[in-house]
Amino acid sequence: MKEYHKALLIWYDNQGRNLPWRAKGEQTVNPYHVWLSEIMLQQTTVVTVIPYFLSFIQRWPTFQQLAEASLDDILHAWQGLGYYARARNLHLCAKKITNDYKGKLPTSSDELIKLPGIGPYTARAIAAIAFNEHVLPVDGNIARILSRLYAISIPLPDGMPEIQNAASAFAPQTRPGDFAQAMMDLGATVCTPRAPLCEKCPFKPTCKAHALGIAAELPLKNKKLVRPQKYTIAYILKREDGAILLRKRPEKGLLGGMMGVPTSEWQLEKVESNNIGKDAPFTTHWKSLEGRINHSFTHFDLEVESYYGSICSKKAETLDGVWVFLHQLSHYALPKLFKKIIETSFKEIEPH
Ligand code: ADE
Repeated sequence: MKEYHKALLIWYDNQGRNLPWRAKGEQTVNPYHVWLSEIMLQQTTVVTVIPYFLSFIQRWPTFQQLAEASLDDILHAWQGLGYYARARNLHLCAKKITNDYKGKLPTSSDELIKLPGIGPYTARAIAAIAFNEHVLPVDGNIARILSRLYAISIPLPDGMPEIQNAASAFAPQTRPGDFAQAMMDLGATVCTPRAPLCEKCPFKPTCKAHALGIAAELPLKNKKLVRPQKYTIAYILKREDGAILLRKRPEKGLLGGMMGVPTSEWQLEKVESNNIGKDAPFTTHWKSLEGRINHSFTHFDLEVESYYGSICSKKAETLDGVWVFLHQLSHYALPKLFKKIIETSFKEIEPH
């Protein structure tokens, strides 16, 4: 082990974060915990993940129990974590591990990557943390540390292959899982994007960017691409007793299979006023609501205009979907977008 490996591991043993999926001291790692946490941590912060992680392991303590759960229960428990495809893949993966791998995770990154929901980063993270494979997963934090350590000046994402190469050479043979997690913690707390705390960094003596005085400038980034703006209309259809119509979205596509109020197609142009109501779930007088919702997805922004209409109970019976009262909304796996739409609309429809 090199001096800087030792320095980081000592730092980790003293300053690393105490996270519920990590094994401390003499504890042995639980591969189920490592896998579950890594899937939850894709695109989501540690602070957000912790309560979800704790409730999942309490409710479904093993791959088999998670495999036997209903997808609806899992989606419901996942509510608020976003990117629901991850929850579907989580369930698929648990079933696969239970049925094809006798309930045990495969131990190499080459095998792990074949499973649903596991890409190159997650495969390496699980293999290193749960099975001590000699690899270093590279996420945004670790890419930043490596680009500074080696003063890599190719802007990201073009510089990623060079950073990946640096990572393979950089992982130590001993404690690669702790080393990977130490890198994650260092990136989150010391080697931060804008104002790195170089004085507290165990890599200070070896960091090229620090020596050159350019740590805060790295990694360089290619100019951001313009994010597409999409538009849609949401239809809040209220039955005379106050229930509103929710429908399951088509399985394919964003928020596929999740419940939500009906919307028009999400498109790149603003919806023209003479098209309002054409694709609504019911023909009625649709009243425009003031509140606009702006919601960001990974690859585009969505602006939602909401319209409100009423329906009598008899006609309501003829429509597909479920009729739900506001106080029952939490029983459904409703993505944040639809919660925002319904809450904002109801502030206008029923101001009290
Ligand atoms: N982000 C992804 N995996 C993580 C882990 N194991 N610890 C902290 N942050 C992470």
